[in-house]
Amino acid sequence: MTPLIVGNWKMNGLGASLGEFADLASLLTTGEPPRCIVAICPPATLLSQMADQGALSGILTGGQDCHVAQNGAHTGDISAAMLADAGAQFVIVGHSERRADHGETDDLVRRKAVAALAAGLTPIICVGETEAERDAGQAEAVVGAQLAASVPDEAASHEVVIAYEPVWAIGTGRTPTNEEIGQMHGALRARLVERFGDRGAAIRLLYGGSMKPINAREILMIDNVDGGLVGGASLLAKDFYAIICSV
Ligand code: G3P
Repeated sequence: MTPLIVGNWKMNGLGASLGEFADLASLLTTGEPPRCIVAICPPATLLSQMADQGALSGILTGGQDCHVAQNGAHTGDISAAMLADAGAQFVIVGHSERRADHGETDDLVRRKAVAALAAGLTPIICVGETEAERDAGQAEAVVGAQLAASVPDEAASHEVVIAYEPVWAIGTGRTPTNEEIGQMHGALRARLVERFGDRGAAIRLLYGGSMKPINAREILMIDNVDGGLVGGASLLAKDFYAIICSV
């Protein structure tokens, strides 16, 4: 399957940052065509402009979260329908920062994924263990349970993407070993195939957590790693482009 590289800008980026996006667009349109699908999930304030610019350069866009409802009395929230209306194709749901900062549960994440699908978006559903859970030998059990409860049954007939992001690797410069990544992605694949059959074999599994130009190539070569979800290194066009070129 064609790999997918997604940049998650998190709560970073003002209007001036669109210059960085324009630089990426120019690198992508003047260089060799990328061997992967490229998307950026900016803060919602930049989504519409970025989607318009991205349409010209083949960069897709996504939101970073959505509500379970498509509209209504939910001050401060944003719906999947609004993200789609702004031009997004994806939405990240269940990022560990939202699970930690907003107490999001697997059940809520699953309902958000369903809302995303109903609005025509592809949800990028995040799972990942804490360092304490890994140290206790619980990583696969924890992540497997998150997968079971966060991925909706609708994945049997709709496109979803899973991102494995070990919490302790996010923004820390630390990553699991290639063997550990391969083991976790293999375990996730086995669970998806068990639940969804052939369809489970076709679900993209992204790795996220301190993916950088320096380690992207080797991580992206690991079995069952079908792309990356990149935080810090997606903020600078040259770094993100280097990761894209690592595919
Ligand atoms: O969603 C991407 C992410 O959490 C990884 O962030 O900064 O470690 O690449 P970073």
